[in-house]
Amino acid sequence: MKLIYQQMIAFFVVITALLAILGFSFFHVTKTLIYENTWNQLEGYAYSLKTQSMTIERGANGKQTFTLDIGKLQTSELLLRNQQVHFTIYTTRNKVMYPDQGYQSTISTSDWKKLESGQIIRRKSDLGWRGPDKAKVQNQQRMTDILAPCFDQSGQLVAVISVGAKVSSLQESFTKIQRNLFYVLLFSALLGVAISYLLAHYITKRISKLRNATRAVANGDFDVTLVDHKRDELDDLANDFNQMTSSLKQSNEEISRQEQKRRQFMADAAHEMRTPLTTINGLLEGLAYDAIPEESKEKSIELMRNETRRLIRLVNENLDYEKIRSGQIELRRTTFDAMNVIHNVAAQLKKKAQSAGDTIEVAGPTKLPVFADYDRFVQIMFNITQNAVQFTTNGVIRISAERGYKSSILRIADNGIGMDDEQLKNIWERYYKADASRRNTKYGESGLGLAIVQQLMEQHGGKVEVISKPNKGSTFTLIFPDEKGK
Ligand SMILES: Nc1ncnc2c1ncn2[C@@H]1O[C@H](COP(=O)(O)OP(=O)(O)OP(=O)(O)O)[C@@H](O)[C@H]1O
Ligand SMILES: [Mg+2]
Repeated sequence: MKLIYQQMIAFFVVITALLAILGFSFFHVTKTLIYENTWNQLEGYAYSLKTQSMTIERGANGKQTFTLDIGKLQTSELLLRNQQVHFTIYTTRNKVMYPDQGYQSTISTSDWKKLESGQIIRRKSDLGWRGPDKAKVQNQQRMTDILAPCFDQSGQLVAVISVGAKVSSLQESFTKIQRNLFYVLLFSALLGVAISYLLAHYITKRISKLRNATRAVANGDFDVTLVDHKRDELDDLANDFNQMTSSLKQSNEEISRQEQKRRQFMADAAHEMRTPLTTINGLLEGLAYDAIPEESKEKSIELMRNETRRLIRLVNENLDYEKIRSGQIELRRTTFDAMNVIHNVAAQLKKKAQSAGDTIEVAGPTKLPVFADYDRFVQIMFNITQNAVQFTTNGVIRISAERGYKSSILRIADNGIGMDDEQLKNIWERYYKADASRRNTKYGESGLGLAIVQQLMEQHGGKVEVISKPNKGSTFTLIFPDEKGK
């Protein structure tokens, strides 16, 4: 069943149930009130009858005499004829003093006892009217009446006045009220249907909006947003939906970016490998067709070996990078002296630096503890220092070390060619080379060094930062945190 109908039924059931309860209680209260009013009126008549038409006298012999002014009584009855009020006066439970004939009600013994104790009795309807003709009892109309006792001075019950009105006249009022109430209920029910439709429509419309938005997202439109009025749960849902689309949009952008990167990587990798392979292929063909002079053959073979080494290095570094990135390498971290490593790296690169006209300076304490994987630490220091040598001619490369807050800080600064902001943004990417024309130098640049350094620093829980200015030089800062708890 459609949600709108479900909602409408729910609203409608609640509204009608409420109306039915209200209607029923209203009718009940009104009925009670009408009876209450009638009885009060009847009691009033009984009182005036008692004071005007009845006299109780004590005779000379001390006996009470009870006299009734029938004339006055009949006048009163006549006056109240329109209201269909009847009087009956009893002297004992079964003895009716007035009227002589007509229909008379009986008084039960328990009622009589109550009357003797001074209580006024109110009866809703009494069928037990007794007439001279028994058959007429059947046709007799239902009466509601009150029974009021009359006592003499000694407190003896001498008479009971019964004042009754026809139930049918009350019934008329009830029917009128019932009919009006029915119309009101009918109108309210119709109004209920209309209101429940509007309410259900309002809610389902909002749900439809959500549904349309969901479809749009499913079709790849991540720009849809829903208005959040911050009013109810549906607004909360809209808010969640907006958050979901924005994160979906972000991940979608990230996926495209990654895809772009992957394509770039594939192209770069192919490009990197194609150069040495082309060289090797050319030389092999030359050798095969004897196109290379004897004296150049040795040089050609040397070139092929270099290019093969370059390929192997490329493949190995790529594998290494992937391993580090996917957390497949296990770091064996220990605390050792970093100064020792720095001096070694400087010594190893001394020759290369000299050939570029560079000098390498080392500054720092005699010993500096660092918490790292020894081999990987050497790899990091070597990579960055080698870069500094590579991109500096006739300059100074300065390696310094110091203690930081719960960490060891190493700096490699050069005054070489430096990099601009655009280059700085990309140097951590694989195969990135700030200047493509600089590839294939004797150090075999492949653009993997810094990408590996960054991954390694991440695995160490450390940080690598760089500041650089074109033609001024670059400074790489490495921060290695100390072992936790030390
Ligand atoms: N000290 C530096 N001064 C100037 N440019 C630098 C410096 N260090 C790195 N770069 C730039 O960043 C690029 C990326 O460096 P990275 O070490 O990743 O690759 P590479 O040195 O070109 O190749 P590889 O290290 O794999 O042999 C370099 O090509 C260079 O353009
Ligand atoms: Mg490098």
